[in-house]
Amino acid sequence: MYVGADYYPEHWPEERWEYDACLMRDAGFNVTRLAEFSWTKLEPEEGKFDFEWLDRAVDVLERNGVKVILCTTTATMPKWMYDSYPEIIASDVNGHKLPFGNRQCNCFTSSSYRFFSDRMTGKLAERYAANENVIGWQIDNEFWGPYCFCDTCENAFRSYLKDKFKTIEILNQKLGTIFWSHTYRGFEQVHLPRHPNSNPSLSLEYKRFHSENIIRFARSQAEIIRKKCPGHFITHNMMGFSESVNYYELGKLLDFVSFDYYYNFGSDMSRSKRTAQYRYGAASLDFMRSVKHRNFWIIENSISANGWESYGRELRPGELMRMTYQNIAHGAEAQIWFRWRTSLYGTEQYWNGVLGHDGVPARRYRDAAGTSEAIHKLSEYIEGSEVISDVAVLSDYDDRWAMSQQPNGPFFDHVRSSLVYYNAFTKHGINVDFVSPSDDFSKYKIMVLPAKYILSEELSEKLRAYADNGGVLIITYRSGVKDTTNIPYVMTLPGHLRKLSGIRIEDTEAVSPEDPYVIIAGDNSFTGAVFCDWIIPEDSHVIAGYKDPDLSEYAAATVRRTGAGSVYYLGIESEGLTSYITDMVIKETGIRDFGVLPEGVEIVTRTSADHEYVFVLNHSETEYITDIKGVDITSGKTFDGVSAVAPNTAAVIQRKII
Ligand code: GLA
Repeated sequence: MYVGADYYPEHWPEERWEYDACLMRDAGFNVTRLAEFSWTKLEPEEGKFDFEWLDRAVDVLERNGVKVILCTTTATMPKWMYDSYPEIIASDVNGHKLPFGNRQCNCFTSSSYRFFSDRMTGKLAERYAANENVIGWQIDNEFWGPYCFCDTCENAFRSYLKDKFKTIEILNQKLGTIFWSHTYRGFEQVHLPRHPNSNPSLSLEYKRFHSENIIRFARSQAEIIRKKCPGHFITHNMMGFSESVNYYELGKLLDFVSFDYYYNFGSDMSRSKRTAQYRYGAASLDFMRSVKHRNFWIIENSISANGWESYGRELRPGELMRMTYQNIAHGAEAQIWFRWRTSLYGTEQYWNGVLGHDGVPARRYRDAAGTSEAIHKLSEYIEGSEVISDVAVLSDYDDRWAMSQQPNGPFFDHVRSSLVYYNAFTKHGINVDFVSPSDDFSKYKIMVLPAKYILSEELSEKLRAYADNGGVLIITYRSGVKDTTNIPYVMTLPGHLRKLSGIRIEDTEAVSPEDPYVIIAGDNSFTGAVFCDWIIPEDSHVIAGYKDPDLSEYAAATVRRTGAGSVYYLGIESEGLTSYITDMVIKETGIRDFGVLPEGVEIVTRTSADHEYVFVLNHSETEYITDIKGVDITSGKTFDGVSAVAPNTAAVIQRKII
């Protein structure tokens, strides 16, 4: 496996580079990432290039056995470009050009910016194509925006709409512009949705347009690199559940996904929050793996308590190792920390590196070196193994985009709610994937559709076939509400899912978690909130109802048997009810279940051709006794059925597949 830290040699005197490279080598580091924001040093004046310093940096690293990933540098334009080409600077919603001083201030539609970016990418690719120490490329950095409201973007958006809707009459009809007299007489009258109350259908189109724009920009760089450097990989550093760019689509350009994984230790320093971090982290890691349904790289990861302008609470001894095992458990096949040395300059002065400002190898360095040694040892076993999941959670950008403008209820967040269902399975040690609507569903025994708000008829057909063929489907509130133009169906909810789920919904309300409903399921009672569907079963069995006398005739959850499969419907968000139903479907499908794990304990399994590797991650502060048998490859000990995993550690239990 590759292990290392991101390096910015241009921030440090050249005489220091060799020492840095030696320290990296001594820590077992075999890779680094260079040139991320170094455009101004590579092209100090327009059309004048200087790659010699980068050649020397790559050489120093090569002499010490450290391979290099190069960045295309295009997330930070040089000042000469900002000053000479105002058209490449993004405009905010009021039409003001973004000021110089931050990074990522370019307009992705600008052809001049594309020209300069492609030229730099091409020059770099040509220069390093044959360099044996360069192994691959990171395109740009953490694509997200900015959302640009310049004239070029407005015109490009009009062309996008024209391509899609063909005539203005169709656009008016499909987007419902009759509302508030927004009807257009020509495409040239359409503006970018600048206002939070803009037509939701137009806003959804804008989010799709924005994402496509960035992907087009990335594609151009990817094509240049593919042509000039056929032996190198291409990746991009994604940000987990960030929603600006459709990662499934961006992922198609890449050989593999890379993840910038930062623990949220800066903003909340309490110990309990630190423990809870593992759940959100696990889901983010699983989402990153799911973008391409293959193992991924960690290309940036907290080495310390992160903060731009302030410190957070520091990682405790053992924490770096445990969190690194968590990354690998979920499919990471490289571990790169951010950054090699804390910057002396700029906004990130308190974003700690492996080395501090003083450049002296100390605690964090020793910790990274120890973790690196453990990774190399582990990789001898797990190389080639993968995370195989029986359960998938559908996660579609259209829903997140549409519901971030109209959350439908003040207590709803699409990702947070999706994780209620995700957690209900992972707390049993069950691997979970995320899927997009175009993925193959047939490999999953169970699929969850949390708030599948925007639902095409085509997807409803695919879901029907999935359940008919034996799949177990769990559908939740706010599914089947709208068509792909973000207009509600003229159908009784859940619209195209009505027949499939065997229910109809008479009403839906938003419910505060502070004033929840009581739900009765068999002898159990749970609380639930966020949304409450008033469900009338048509061709389904009631699993749960509401205790409230006003809702006595309505169901809270139902199931319909489809022959080979089942379709569950949950009308309210409730951890208790969700667990009750997931326990049922785990039994029904017979998928492997490690039992309900205590808070803070996580189990994830990677599988190779002949072995499985059960990662038992103890994020808690108490010992965990596991009944899993096999050899723990982190310690060499045999786990006999009553073995302890100490607090803040991990075991990786190898078992032969017979
Ligand atoms: C992001 C960027 C890095 C760095 C880190 C820390 O993830 O990719 O360049 O800025 O954040 O702030």
